[in-house]
Amino acid sequence: MAEKIKVIQYGLGAMGVGMVKMLLEKKDIELVGAISASGRNKGLDVGTAIGLDRKLGVLISNDAEKVLNTVKADIVLHATCTTLEDAVRETVPILKSGKNVITIAEEVLYPTGGNKKVFDDLDRIARENNVTILGTGINPGFVMDFLPLSMTGIMINIKRIKMQRVVNYGRYGKSVWEHIGVGKDIEAFNQGCKRGEIVLHVGLEQTVNICAAALGWKLDKITVDKEPIISRIQRDTEFGSVLPGSIGGFKQIAIGWYKEEALITQELIGLINPDEKEDGVALGNNIWLEGDPSIHLFVGGEFADQGGKGTYAHAVNSIPQVIQAKPGFSTVISLPPAICLKSKKAT
Ligand SMILES: NC(=O)c1ccc[n+]([C@@H]2O[C@H](COP(=O)([O-])OP(=O)(O)OC[C@H]3O[C@@H](n4cnc5c(N)ncnc54)[C@H](OP(=O)(O)O)[C@@H]3O)[C@@H](O)[C@H]2O)c1
Repeated sequence: MAEKIKVIQYGLGAMGVGMVKMLLEKKDIELVGAISASGRNKGLDVGTAIGLDRKLGVLISNDAEKVLNTVKADIVLHATCTTLEDAVRETVPILKSGKNVITIAEEVLYPTGGNKKVFDDLDRIARENNVTILGTGINPGFVMDFLPLSMTGIMINIKRIKMQRVVNYGRYGKSVWEHIGVGKDIEAFNQGCKRGEIVLHVGLEQTVNICAAALGWKLDKITVDKEPIISRIQRDTEFGSVLPGSIGGFKQIAIGWYKEEALITQELIGLINPDEKEDGVALGNNIWLEGDPSIHLFVGGEFADQGGKGTYAHAVNSIPQVIQAKPGFSTVISLPPAICLKSKKAT
């Protein structure tokens, strides 16, 4: 029997728990370690900590160094943070321990602005240790980069890309609400943005950049505009309610420009319980590719309301590709597409 792929889970928040539950369903994969970034549930069996009715024989540790140096594994799934700085601090020791990494930290998708040197270093460290690191997810990592770029493969030429993604933030908890300023007034929103407490979505600059690089387009600049959306209606969720007159969402637009022309436009609208009639937009993802032939793709259905599932599934399904990749820093477009892995209960 072929050996199973051995995985360590690093981070057991909403995404990390989703990853573990999915890993357990897969035929050729074995969970061999679990690291909690915050130290929550330290010493508990993973099965107990994530609410399963059985133990998995893997204890949660908050000593990343010890786990990385004592547990034999092929790959680490990393789901603790957003920024490149935090991700580098946690993933470099993983690479140095000789293990591949898949991280969902948004800023690891692709270099932006002046941070190319950080990626060059990640690439070098990964190569020196004969392993690979990939940044992925749903967005960034799929709907605004991999998916539109894949569609251009059936075009003779492409002039412009425009995308709009409408996300239901009613699905996410209070900490995410804090990051988008839900329930605040305009003044508090603006102050929160200034202080860096309200960051809205992270990753649009990365997705604009990876699209431009893949198509060989030179950009003069990337602009990002953010504005709050005031709700006229009450929006009730399991995490709380948004009252009329307070912030119920946001609109964020990143544009990649060349000679005053908008070549890549990515619009993200985040709303608490989007209501097509009230908000004038439908939950889901629109991709317009202008060229020969032009394409309009709408991706909706259950998936549109379940970005979390898409995120951890994309990370888990990328495991074989990352293990087989050439050592170094990889991107979602430098690897073959992730395909849904075989389950124990084969269909
Ligand atoms: N690329 C993408 O498409 C994509 C999509 C979704 C999320 N992300 C990113 O992935 C990261 C993880 O997302 P998530 O939804 O899993 O976030 P989360 O639930 O907030 O978990 C993030 C971290 O917070 C800790 N945590 C969770 N619940 C906690 C609690 N009750 N008390 C103390 N600490 C707690 C976890 O700690 P332990 O590790 O200690 O368990 C985990 O490391 C985020 O930074 C997010 O930006 C990326």
